[in-house]
Amino acid sequence: MAGFVRELERRAGPALRLEQRAAGGVGCVVWDAALVLAKFLETGACPLARRHVLELGAGTGAVGIMAATLGANVTVTDLEELQELLLVNIENNKHLVTGGEDVTEFQPPPDYILMADCIYYEESLEPLLKTLKDLTGPDTCVLCCYEQRTMGKNPEIERKYFELLQRDFELERIPLDRHDEEIPHREIFEHRMCPLAELWRRGDGITPQRDCLRCGCDSSAPNSFSLAD
Ligand SMILES: C[S@@+](CC[C@H](N)C(=O)[O-])C[C@H]1O[C@@H](n2cnc3c(N)ncnc32)[C@H](O)[C@@H]1O
Repeated sequence: MAGFVRELERRAGPALRLEQRAAGGVGCVVWDAALVLAKFLETGACPLARRHVLELGAGTGAVGIMAATLGANVTVTDLEELQELLLVNIENNKHLVTGGEDVTEFQPPPDYILMADCIYYEESLEPLLKTLKDLTGPDTCVLCCYEQRTMGKNPEIERKYFELLQRDFELERIPLDRHDEEIPHREIFEHRMCPLAELWRRGDGITPQRDCLRCGCDSSAPNSFSLAD
């Protein structure tokens, strides 16, 4: 199948080379939310070295592979039909990754769960939230970046997602000044089309007054947001 490569510049060292496909599922190309999240990881706001990281709906693997180049032990997940492309991209960028260990078991819970652009499909909302609940522990930081879409049912799907999410998770926006300054698509930030948030499991129904432990983001920022924000 025809492919075309997306290069993702890194602060240090050669760019990631991510194979994409002209045809296939939505995961066959690198989405803007993945660029935003991958570049955020490079800021070093979240320590990744030797941390266990799980990426959900990885698509081409851009975010997970970036995390691996930063020293994390990463497991990337996606649907069966994306596995071949994911393996191609892992293989093509393997020389940029050091270390590594088998982390195919998710116990204890991962240090981070990464999600880029996984909120777009109504039927997947509840399974996605269940997955998050099943896989997070009290110290798991979920970094969620998503593309705000204004067409069709998207605003409603997004609203519903955050409503359901906030039953079980505390949510903190990561403000723009904590994002990567060198992002090649500055306009993605400036128009706030790809907000980035960190999520923490609520404990025993009690809302934790949790400072941002790892990202140090502005905990005075509103702890909920939606399309309208
Ligand atoms: C819009 S794409 C984003 C891909 C990638 N994270 C990025 O931002 O470039 C959404 C991804 O979620 C994956 N996905 C959808 N439903 C899924 C499921 N039930 N389990 C795992 N992955 C799923 C799709 O296959 C696709 O790769």
